[in-house]
Amino acid sequence: MTDRVKQLRAAGENIIGLATGTPDFDTPAYIKAAGKAAIDEDRTYVTYTQSAGLPELREAIAAKLARENNVRVNADEVLVTIGVKQGLFTAAQACLDSGDEVLIPTPTWVTYEACFKLAGATPVFVPCRAEDAFRPDPEAMAKRLTSRTRAIMLNSPGNPAGGVITPEAMRAIADLAMRHNLLVMSDEIYEHMVYGSLRHISIASLPGMAERTLTFNGLSKTYAMTGWRVGYVAGPKEMLRNMQKIHSHSVTCACGFSQKAAAVALNGPQDDLHAYIRILTERRKQLIAGLNSIPGVRCDPPDGGIFCFPDITELGLSDQECSAFFLEHAKVSTLPGSAFGPGGEGHLRINFARRKASDLDIALERLRAARAKL
Ligand SMILES: Cc1ncc(COP(=O)(O)O)c(C=O)c1O
Repeated sequence: MTDRVKQLRAAGENIIGLATGTPDFDTPAYIKAAGKAAIDEDRTYVTYTQSAGLPELREAIAAKLARENNVRVNADEVLVTIGVKQGLFTAAQACLDSGDEVLIPTPTWVTYEACFKLAGATPVFVPCRAEDAFRPDPEAMAKRLTSRTRAIMLNSPGNPAGGVITPEAMRAIADLAMRHNLLVMSDEIYEHMVYGSLRHISIASLPGMAERTLTFNGLSKTYAMTGWRVGYVAGPKEMLRNMQKIHSHSVTCACGFSQKAAAVALNGPQDDLHAYIRILTERRKQLIAGLNSIPGVRCDPPDGGIFCFPDITELGLSDQECSAFFLEHAKVSTLPGSAFGPGGEGHLRINFARRKASDLDIALERLRAARAKL
């Protein structure tokens, strides 16, 4: 899909790119200024930092986790990583052995599977149901347990379908993990993007879970900082110790001035974040209404995240054919749901994190016109 988009753009076509996971927003000015000042004013931030991260950032992360997530960790229980992605990769290498099974609710972000396979572990998919708003189901998870199950991967709100785990389901997943002595890896990168009545819950905040949970998060989506590459993992010291060894030998540390900017982002005023969430809330509404006005497309409101995940089965094309059709005939890029594993078939993933409402209006108009040709 990416190759075809590039080809079309090179040929002069105007493509509206709604396929990626990148928010089309700019990093807030005060965060950019902090990064620039760090480069200009202090050599500390342009040399190697402490491998586990700048102390001021680890403190800021521990304070944020206590304030927003009710997760109590000390700064030395935080590892600063090069985005959530490198944190996940490092955790998989440190905590999983060959033959270990990891439960992953699907449809899911594809990187989890790759990280676990690279560590020699076996991903075990647990499909979520569209009728349940793609919220992970603890009973379905329990059915996939074997003597080799070692961990559960959670991503709430989820990519691609936006499912937010309900409080009851979160407690049931915690019980499952405690009963079967499982590690929980919780990717909370979309925590602020929750739109309905559900609230984000960090599973590490539930009784008995802190000692068996690795909480992953980062600045990429919350502060539109994808390119700054800052994320973090918080969890039990003995797990972090092994992760730190891999981290230090593989990447040394995250970029110093990005870490400084991240500390400023977490400690600073959150007005830009609130304004950004307000815009996302409007764009989500706009895209849902627009998609539902296209005959044969049904878009249930996603609980959270930055994507709509409409059902396109009535169009009579597979999700791959449909995504390709819309790219060729509407010049709008989307991703086929089947790329995200079992349960995603018959859907498209469409990013609504756009600054301009007009981008989505034009995209919707083009999709509607293309659909009329089917
Ligand atoms: C669920 C999820 N986790 C993590 C990431 C990547 O985060 P980072 O930029 O911090 O590596 C993404 C990016 O698309 C994502 O969708």
